[in-house]
Amino acid sequence: MTDEDKNEMVVTPWEVRGKVDYKRLIREFGTQPLTDELIKRIAKHTGKLHLQLQRKLFFSHRDMDVILDLYEKGIKFVLYTGRGPSGPVHIGHLVPWIFTKHLQEKFKTKLYFQMTDDEKFLVEDELKLKDTINFGYENALDLIALGFKPEDTFIIFDVQDIDLLYDIALEVAKRITFSTAKATFGFQESTNIGWIFWPAIQAVPCFIHAKLTGENVPALIPAAIDQDPYWRVTRDIAQKLGYYKPAQIHCRFLPGLGIGGKMSASEPETSIFIIDPPNVVKRKIWNAFTGGKATAAEQRKTGADPSICTVFHYFLYLFEEDDKKLKEREKQCKAGGILCGECKADLTERINKFLTEHRKKREKARNIVEKFRIKR
Ligand code: TRP
Repeated sequence: MTDEDKNEMVVTPWEVRGKVDYKRLIREFGTQPLTDELIKRIAKHTGKLHLQLQRKLFFSHRDMDVILDLYEKGIKFVLYTGRGPSGPVHIGHLVPWIFTKHLQEKFKTKLYFQMTDDEKFLVEDELKLKDTINFGYENALDLIALGFKPEDTFIIFDVQDIDLLYDIALEVAKRITFSTAKATFGFQESTNIGWIFWPAIQAVPCFIHAKLTGENVPALIPAAIDQDPYWRVTRDIAQKLGYYKPAQIHCRFLPGLGIGGKMSASEPETSIFIIDPPNVVKRKIWNAFTGGKATAAEQRKTGADPSICTVFHYFLYLFEEDDKKLKEREKQCKAGGILCGECKADLTERINKFLTEHRKKREKARNIVEKFRIKR
């Protein structure tokens, strides 16, 4: 692969690579930008804006305005998000889950969370079904550790819960042609047929609330924008099945620690996993790509560039809620008043504190996973 190919943007549900141009994604996927006006409308219901909205980590949507119109008329929505359990969760995965929890609390809605152990088995050559099922269980602990409650949060483990999904999946699958699926997902002659059918399963939780309760309400999906192709095909067939089109609110990818903010599970040094012990977190952050200069003397003189700094992005999106403190850090960085070592040490401390707490909560969650299953 040439350097140019490596930088070329590729965003699909199974692969994100190159420099991500979010404006271009909005254009190419045909989604809407999340405007200040719409953000203000959300704030009318939520009060103070969530940090991830205020700092534009969520940046795009489909029908968020329709969801609010309906809500204001008294028609509630349900939330739906999910996870492909191909390994341990890293901090980037928590971003949309944290935001989902905020929406759930403010709008008092139910959440359906799909754990796609089937998808990851079909898609990842090297994973066995028992591996993805096991990761599904382990990843559910991370979700529960964020404080979701079993009264209004339902985790769907695809393999175990297929009896609840199969009838709707068939209705969906019958209405999507191979040619649409191929054009949307880039399927090839060599793609296994399980994978080709699979998008029908990801569509199901958009409609499952209606089936379980008889209450036909729309779903709102907070997720990273790479999942959008699924929603395009789902939206096309929703009304034919008598349901609302699912709405989405899309987030960016949390930048990783590599050059240009890359984070990928296949490059473990660029992401911080929930299970990383403190010394590993420290090492990864110590090696992170920053906007710093070659020498301390030079940096003191000319300052550094937070806009390209991965450490700064972690403060921005997750670990510095205080706007004033964030601004001060940015200012000091640009002026050469603080050096990268100091920011790295601060971030290491914050992340390790968060992870220590999180791991305690996730161990406690082991006893209550069953409570989050949908009752038969
Ligand atoms: N396909 C997603 C993944 O690989 C998992 C998923 C299923 C999901 N349903 C979802 C993600 C809804 C976001 C929203 O991670």
